[in-house]
Amino acid sequence: MSIPIYTYDAVIVGAGLAGCAAARELRLAGKSVLVLTKLHPLRSHSGAAQGGVNAALSEEDSKFLHEFDTVKGADYLADQNVVEFLCDKAPETVRWIEKMGVAFGRTEDGKINQRPFGGQTKPRACFAKDRIGLSMLQAIYEQALREGVDFWDEWYASDIIYKDGKISGVTGFNIANHEERGIFNAKTVMFATGGYARSFKINSNAHANTGDGLSIVARHGLPLEDMEFVQFHPSGLSGNGVLISEAARGEGGRLINSEGERFMSKYAPNKMELASRDVVSRAIIQEIREGRGVGPRKDAVYIDLTHLPKEIIMERLPELRDLGITFLGLDMLKEPLLISATAHYSMGGIPCDITGRVRKNTTEFVDGFYAAGECACASVHGANRLGANSVLEAVLLGRHVGFTMIDDLNKGVELRVATQADADTMVSEMEGILKSSGAESVSDLRDQLQSAMSRDVGPFRMEADLLKAVKTLKTLHKKFKNIRIEDSSKIFNTDLQEAIELGHMLDYSQFIVESALARKESRGAHFREDFPKRDDKKFMKHTMAYMDEKGELSLEYMDVIGGKHEPQERTY
Ligand code: FUM
Repeated sequence: MSIPIYTYDAVIVGAGLAGCAAARELRLAGKSVLVLTKLHPLRSHSGAAQGGVNAALSEEDSKFLHEFDTVKGADYLADQNVVEFLCDKAPETVRWIEKMGVAFGRTEDGKINQRPFGGQTKPRACFAKDRIGLSMLQAIYEQALREGVDFWDEWYASDIIYKDGKISGVTGFNIANHEERGIFNAKTVMFATGGYARSFKINSNAHANTGDGLSIVARHGLPLEDMEFVQFHPSGLSGNGVLISEAARGEGGRLINSEGERFMSKYAPNKMELASRDVVSRAIIQEIREGRGVGPRKDAVYIDLTHLPKEIIMERLPELRDLGITFLGLDMLKEPLLISATAHYSMGGIPCDITGRVRKNTTEFVDGFYAAGECACASVHGANRLGANSVLEAVLLGRHVGFTMIDDLNKGVELRVATQADADTMVSEMEGILKSSGAESVSDLRDQLQSAMSRDVGPFRMEADLLKAVKTLKTLHKKFKNIRIEDSSKIFNTDLQEAIELGHMLDYSQFIVESALARKESRGAHFREDFPKRDDKKFMKHTMAYMDEKGELSLEYMDVIGGKHEPQERTY
């Protein structure tokens, strides 16, 4: 069966904030652009961002302070050229977002209102109640549609067409009917495939966040960077990890243990609940480990907002109140919620430089390949991201990568014409999975993966646990070769999709574990109990990890781009 070949100037995989922002710019510049997305764009996980978007807007704040907080939050692993760019362009980006149609909360005198967020010296998060991500996504998607961007929703990108250091498109299939497949031949390709915390049992991510983009890239021998740095957000609802925004603490929420103690005074006496996320998450876990947890399983702490005026909660945190009622039956107006740390954000990803060009190794780039948003690692968040810097990064770097692609296209990128053979990997992967009649259930394997990652690769890590995780992953990879697919139909075959996704989750998880094992220090979100100190001499470096054809990983390190913010000890 011949697979149709479609030709574009640019193909973007992923329709969250980064993908939509880049696509709109490309279209405005007159380029033909296709966005392939496995969800409807408005279901992209960017829409789940709650608390705000950072910009130094007020007179008491400055670009310098925003940079300082970002670099300190990152535990000095961020590339400072990218941080400077982010913080410099943040105010104009927020004004651009407003122009796109986002209704920000206002102060009495009509300025954009800003709330305090963790690890920040000034109130800096511009907010739209507690649904900044959805407000931004709706506005930017609508503007991209208006400019005529071609969106193919519920199409699954399976592979990149990559040869000799150059990319010339992607292959994919229609989730509604997997026999409808496509070869998307393009001069330029951007990955904006989002986050990938679904490999942890307790996480705040959408079901779709299975890291497909990363594993697709890694399977071609291209590197993934800083994969050990997984951010655990302090406040996920107990039991399911659903996000309760830092806005709850920004508006005054207090963390309390079983003894009624506001325990952050022991861990971050100055910043209290508004220390950086890695610090607050570890404090919560420490309280639980030492027997001061609350709730039926004693595996949570309280977040208490009952002292706040009702109007603040109703005006600024209405979604959070609903989430507490829906998932735990607890109304934050009347009683505290039960929360604990939840896998939330991944600082690592597909390595790229400040322009969004994807790295082939520490010195070379892949021709025609770009990345932005959470799947990318432009090294702006280092070892730990500041809250409210992610939607900023997604929109700002997403647009900026769009500009890079326009520049490259204007300079004259040649189209390497695709052939049917370019779909061979996709077809053999799909047909192989559809014929699977082994003994292993995909959902059982996924469950085993998620349990192992949460247990052995969580906020506190140890060599013995990481080695256990390496072994578990090896076993799961083996078992994956013996899976069973029950559904042989063509229409919305979720068995097929979930099996492909599990393959991706297993691959990128191996990068997380092995990079964590090799980093024998503690930095930002990566905390090794056996190496509790930061070691700038040995590890002020980015990890670059590569997978060979046998699935074995090798690691090398790349220098961090320094700047005016010298490494210091972090205290909050
Ligand atoms: O807590 C939050 O609202 C999450 C924001 C973020 O991850 O940037």
